[in-house]
Amino acid sequence: MTEIQYSETVAHNVRSRVVVVTGGAQGIGAATVTLLHGLGAHVVFGDISESAGEKLEKSLSNPPESNPSSGTAHFVKTNVCSYADQLALFEAAFHRHGRVDAAITCAGILDDPDLFDPSKLTLDAVREESSVITNALNTNLLSAVHFSRLALAYITASPALLGDFTPSLTFTSSITGIFWASSMACYSTSKHGLVGLSRTLSQNPSPIRSNAICPSATNTSIVSDALREMWTGQLGLSMQEPSDVAKYIVQCVADSTLNGKTVVVARGEARDVDEVLEGSVERWMGEENAREWRLLKGLAVSSLPDDG
Ligand SMILES: NC(=O)c1ccc[n+]([C@@H]2O[C@H](COP(=O)([O-])OP(=O)(O)OC[C@H]3O[C@@H](n4cnc5c(N)ncnc54)[C@H](O)[C@@H]3O)[C@@H](O)[C@H]2O)c1
Repeated sequence: MTEIQYSETVAHNVRSRVVVVTGGAQGIGAATVTLLHGLGAHVVFGDISESAGEKLEKSLSNPPESNPSSGTAHFVKTNVCSYADQLALFEAAFHRHGRVDAAITCAGILDDPDLFDPSKLTLDAVREESSVITNALNTNLLSAVHFSRLALAYITASPALLGDFTPSLTFTSSITGIFWASSMACYSTSKHGLVGLSRTLSQNPSPIRSNAICPSATNTSIVSDALREMWTGQLGLSMQEPSDVAKYIVQCVADSTLNGKTVVVARGEARDVDEVLEGSVERWMGEENAREWRLLKGLAVSSLPDDG
């Protein structure tokens, strides 16, 4: 079954769990922080935008109607491009709550559509290394690689959990991590990288799960005016809301059966791409190659030679 359903009953598994989130001040990240908080989780979230982060922390600490089962939300100013900042984010969660149970990346930026436009790429233009490229890859991908290593260490250092909850990493990739992003080579490359990172970590011989979320167009400030106009104007398509994506991120955190999923979220519905990919491997790889691949996949990582 490729479809993934949001279950409020399962989502309640996050109650009292400690969850670290990046890019949590706005958009999909803020919707995720808000949902987790409402379900009773202790959320420690980072973002480069101090004003938006503090505003969200304040609004969750003094909600208009108080929910007795709400958790807590604590904001830490974090630039994900700084290793020290990401370390401080995990330290804050661990120090405050004595543990980390789940970690979610939401921070992301777009790159400049002109970067790979041949009509703009004069020999002069490429004389200097582009800091826009470095920044886009750092923010969207390299930061998540460091983040996941930190998360694995802090989750492992936490006292073992009892009950129906296993720890996890969840990466916010994109539909452009599966297909492409017109004129956004760095963005699409990074988002493909997050899918690869999630798939690889999901095969770790540890009880820590890993899943990637790949939203289609979602109504947040990252969407440029031009894309919004094309999507809603020219094509007449509707955009899903951040809360539509947040619930599947939370489902990945709460549902202990979800691991190694690459979840496309479009029109508020979620489907796992990897189940289809795995199920059709003979068709696109050939019978013999598929057999070898399944053999390799079946090998426990621990049984591979050191240089394997
Ligand atoms: N909105 C969409 O259509 C869409 C589609 C697919 C994937 N996504 C992904 O969803 C994630 C959330 O984006 P969004 O749509 O909510 O946009 P958004 O701009 O509302 O949120 C992104 C958040 O990341 C933060 N951020 C940016 N750079 C940062 C840095 N260096 N350190 C820490 N925080 C930083 C921003 O301040 C912001 O709060 C992103 O990874 C984005 O690529 C969005």
